[in-house]
Amino acid sequence: MTPVQAADSVAAWVQWVQSRLEQAQLTFGHGTDNAFDEAAWLVCHAVGIDPATLESAWQRTLDGACRDRLRMLTEERVRTRKPTAYLTQSAWFAGLRFYVDERVLVPRSYIGEWLQDGLAPWVAPQGVQRGLDLCTGSGCIAVATALAFPTASIDAIDLCADALEVARINVAAYELEERIRLVHSDLFAAVAGNRYDLITANPPYVGTEAMASLPPEYRHEPAAALAAGEDGLDIIVRILGQARRFLTDSGTLVLEAGSAAPALERAFDSIAFTWLTCADGTSPVLVLTAAELDEQAAALGR
Ligand SMILES: C[S@@+](CC[C@H](N)C(=O)[O-])C[C@H]1O[C@@H](n2cnc3c(N)ncnc32)[C@H](O)[C@@H]1O
Repeated sequence: MTPVQAADSVAAWVQWVQSRLEQAQLTFGHGTDNAFDEAAWLVCHAVGIDPATLESAWQRTLDGACRDRLRMLTEERVRTRKPTAYLTQSAWFAGLRFYVDERVLVPRSYIGEWLQDGLAPWVAPQGVQRGLDLCTGSGCIAVATALAFPTASIDAIDLCADALEVARINVAAYELEERIRLVHSDLFAAVAGNRYDLITANPPYVGTEAMASLPPEYRHEPAAALAAGEDGLDIIVRILGQARRFLTDSGTLVLEAGSAAPALERAFDSIAFTWLTCADGTSPVLVLTAAELDEQAAALGR
């Protein structure tokens, strides 16, 4: 198949890749939600264009080497069903670029939307001196938090040592080694006695049934980053039960429950959770203050 436009322009090749991806009926959801955006991403990577400047490069001509690279990349995406983020070893989160590979989930937490605005109005601009990011994976939330709160120190925890190696690359890329401490731990275990103004978490929350029917793209991600027991609540329930002990009295917990949100509502039906509505109209992230966690201590089994 050849590009539909005569010129070997970026525009023509984006169109070609888009139609190839559509034809192959891939699943999107790792940084893009449609074939056009993903095609643009692949072209930018193969040609070496900063995606932010794509519009001005629209009529640029691809040389033979670029075209070969792009064809190979596109065919690899189609054949392996690997997310483009792994093929390009890059992902964007909260407007920031991150290194990623198959040791970590591809960053896409809805918490990023709120971090770009400093979690306003839920967290005061000067309100975070100490932060804790549980289940940090690539470190994307920890890095975005450190940049949103420039005087904050962050502890970033993961149970997977390999994931922490990826987080280390990202922390170094943003020169945040002085402010982000990477901690190998099962949730709060290694930070006993510490108190934080902000706890963020995008934990695993996919239930058993959903895990069994994941599209191939998601099977390239570490299962430990997704699977969380029968109803997807295994890790979330542990976080809710322990978070208060690690928050200051004015502290806040920001937790993504994603597809496990309905199960969470059912499991704790006496709690009126505050859900943040995101740009796409979904409400997968909850906010609980230390005071609310105190009020709900009995319901949370503390
Ligand atoms: C959904 S991924 C989130 C990664 C990253 N925060 C993001 O938003 O892209 C969940 C992460 O939790 C980690 N994890 C799973 N169980 C854990 C546990 N008990 N304690 C700490 N981290 C855990 C996994 O290794 C994985 O990196």
